[in-house]
Amino acid sequence: MIRLRRFDRREDVTAAAADVVCALLAANPEAVIGLATGRTQEPLFTELLRRHRAGGVSFRRAIFFHLDEYWRLPASSPQSMSHTLRSLFVGATDLPADRFHCVDGMAVDPAAEAARYETKIRQASGIDLQLLGMGTNGHIGFNEPGSPHDSRMRLINLTDETREQNRDFFPPDAVVPAQALTMGIATILEAKSILVLVTGASKRAALQAAVEGTISAACPASALRRHPDCTMLCDAEAVSSLKGM
Ligand code: GLP
Repeated sequence: MIRLRRFDRREDVTAAAADVVCALLAANPEAVIGLATGRTQEPLFTELLRRHRAGGVSFRRAIFFHLDEYWRLPASSPQSMSHTLRSLFVGATDLPADRFHCVDGMAVDPAAEAARYETKIRQASGIDLQLLGMGTNGHIGFNEPGSPHDSRMRLINLTDETREQNRDFFPPDAVVPAQALTMGIATILEAKSILVLVTGASKRAALQAAVEGTISAACPASALRRHPDCTMLCDAEAVSSLKGM
């Protein structure tokens, strides 16, 4: 089931998401949180850091897992998801470095790396709160359309649309990686609760397909309707095509 919450502005979405993260950590300072990257998440990192610096939240006893990583991009590359999360957020918090778990995009064997990462998640007793964004094609993590809803973490080929969407993160002469390691849809659905941030007109069609279309592999985000505790925080631009919004 998806609980949709509509906000007028994207800043309100960010604030509401930060409220959820802070409330979870207040109730359980050892919460396990899955982090996503992307333009939609970046204001949330800024807001969480602001609250952290103001003494409003500590991450010291939390555990973070990130969601996906480009294949064959070293963690030292500024475009890697782990580097992005470290530089924009995690590295500026009080979270001890060994409590931030990353997928190794340079691993020799992607299947072994995927299995290692899934084991790490299980050893942490699973993810309490998974943060997500959504691609314009309805992807979650890097689960592109066609991804089975029972998929586990694996290597996946990125669509041209996704690579184009992420091109701005790379220098003009760089090639956007064609593959990524991503938590699978089943991996994501095992999180105890899921919080999806959806903002802007570019997400309108994907959001409509996810919440009003058929639940199918063609729309990876539609799988979230099978989850017992999934909330989507949306701004007015994103929800404007939905019935009753
Ligand atoms: C990226 C990431 C996703 C992210 C999505 C939306 O490719 N793999 O985790 O949620 O696309 O990104 P944005 O927020 O920049 O629109």
